[in-house]
Amino acid sequence: MSSHESILIVDYGSQYTQLIARRIRDQHVFCQIVPPRRLSADLLHQERPKGLILSGGPASVYQPNAPLPPQDVFEAGIPALGICYGMQAMGRVLGGEVRRANIREYGKSILNVLKAEGLFQGVKESSVCWMSHGDHIVVLPEGFIATAQSDNSRYAAIANRRRHLYGLQFHPEVVHTEQGDKILSNFLFNICGCHGKWTMASFVDEAIARIHEQVGDAHVVLGLSGGVDSSVAALLIHRAIGKRLTCIFVDNGLLRQGEREQVQKTFERHLSMDVRYADEDQRFLESLKGITDPEQKRKIIGREFVAVFETEAKAIPNVQFLAQGTLYPDVIESVSAWGGPSATIKTHHNVGGIPERMHLKLLEPLRDLFKDEVRELGKLLGLPEEIRIRHPFPGPGLAVRILGEVTPERLRIVREADFIVHCEIMQSPEDPTLYRKLWQAFAVLLPVKTVGVMGDERTYEHVIALRAVTSLDAMTADWAKLPAELLERISSRIINEVKGVNRVVYDISSKPPATIEWE
Ligand code: XMP
Repeated sequence: MSSHESILIVDYGSQYTQLIARRIRDQHVFCQIVPPRRLSADLLHQERPKGLILSGGPASVYQPNAPLPPQDVFEAGIPALGICYGMQAMGRVLGGEVRRANIREYGKSILNVLKAEGLFQGVKESSVCWMSHGDHIVVLPEGFIATAQSDNSRYAAIANRRRHLYGLQFHPEVVHTEQGDKILSNFLFNICGCHGKWTMASFVDEAIARIHEQVGDAHVVLGLSGGVDSSVAALLIHRAIGKRLTCIFVDNGLLRQGEREQVQKTFERHLSMDVRYADEDQRFLESLKGITDPEQKRKIIGREFVAVFETEAKAIPNVQFLAQGTLYPDVIESVSAWGGPSATIKTHHNVGGIPERMHLKLLEPLRDLFKDEVRELGKLLGLPEEIRIRHPFPGPGLAVRILGEVTPERLRIVREADFIVHCEIMQSPEDPTLYRKLWQAFAVLLPVKTVGVMGDERTYEHVIALRAVTSLDAMTADWAKLPAELLERISSRIINEVKGVNRVVYDISSKPPATIEWE
């Protein structure tokens, strides 16, 4: 927890909850997200947040078991803002009445401000806001008044100024709400009295002090993958404890072209960090022989990684901590919008089991940050741009982009094709910022062969599928509408330059129902 002033956001399962947090941090106020079951007057007394936000959510307040805030949280003297479901829940708990609306209000609506004070100080009298609700408040709780309305919502905004309680039926956190930032900033600064001093530079100082405190004289080991999260974690810890950090880079033979060289150049030569390399490509390839099932591949790679990492880590004296680049979205215990715990879609690759077996404590200095904040932190710590902007890459590497058996020859094909995709997108004259706009773009080797013709000869060779997606958080993704000229260049270079490929296809599936990776 930060020593700074903080806002507590209670997540009732809205798809926008993380967006609320991002908007608040953009205004330099620290905030944390907690699940409804943690909300209590005791928690507020302990943490003393400057304000409380109740998010939207898919439930209806009148459903049995609907998550509702305990009434005494509104008596703790801490300003509270309920958004959509959050407003209805607050309304219900304080004695108002919520009902299903005759007309669902979804999308853009015109917001008319009735009282240009409190949340609406300096806000335009009439502006567009974003609604998404089926229920609405029909009777206000005692002491509340309407402060704004829309065509379909008599109570688009409500307030009890004496008790510092506010409610919005619309979503101020989404970009479609024109005055959303202003409304949130009124809540933070005018109502909660925040100062807005949380910056990345202050985060670095605090994080370094925390690492010192946590680690003492001990040694830390970190699995460096070359991805942005582990790289930034390594830099931050290195700044705090220097040579008492040892990084282990496992070369599993499933990496992208140039990946290992880039790590060597950046961390060892440029930043003089202690990096050990475990060259285990043969071991991984051997254990993947004959395996075609995606889950089995993932499990084998995970198992081998843990074994290799453990052996390397044991060779370092006085290691007491295992550092990881865990980010905030992995930490938040969200209410699943689909109810119940989510099913395992893919076994993710991690260092699971190591801390317990080796009696290591975890050091996770990025666990309060979102991905784009980590990129900003990387910039501040001097991480080269090519690593900072690099697309995410799965732990099991190219193995999950080779459908069917992983062999040296098939690895060569997918690696060469992937490199062409990377270069062409980086250098795309159609849009020089394209690489940054895409979440990921890569090649997948399919387990089929097709007939083609080269010169006058019949060919019977492999197919590469090109996958490029846009996404905010990898939970959902759209296939990218790449320019036709770019697709053409990628296809023709792959077919001409990668021996063994005679066809390239483009994957036009979104997630859901597809996933980003093919396995
Ligand atoms: P899917 O394929 O599930 O992927 O839509 C979502 C995001 O996660 C990445 N991914 C992984 N990342 N270890 C990781 O660290 C893994 O095992 C793994 N599998 C998938 C994927 O690249 C995408 O960004």
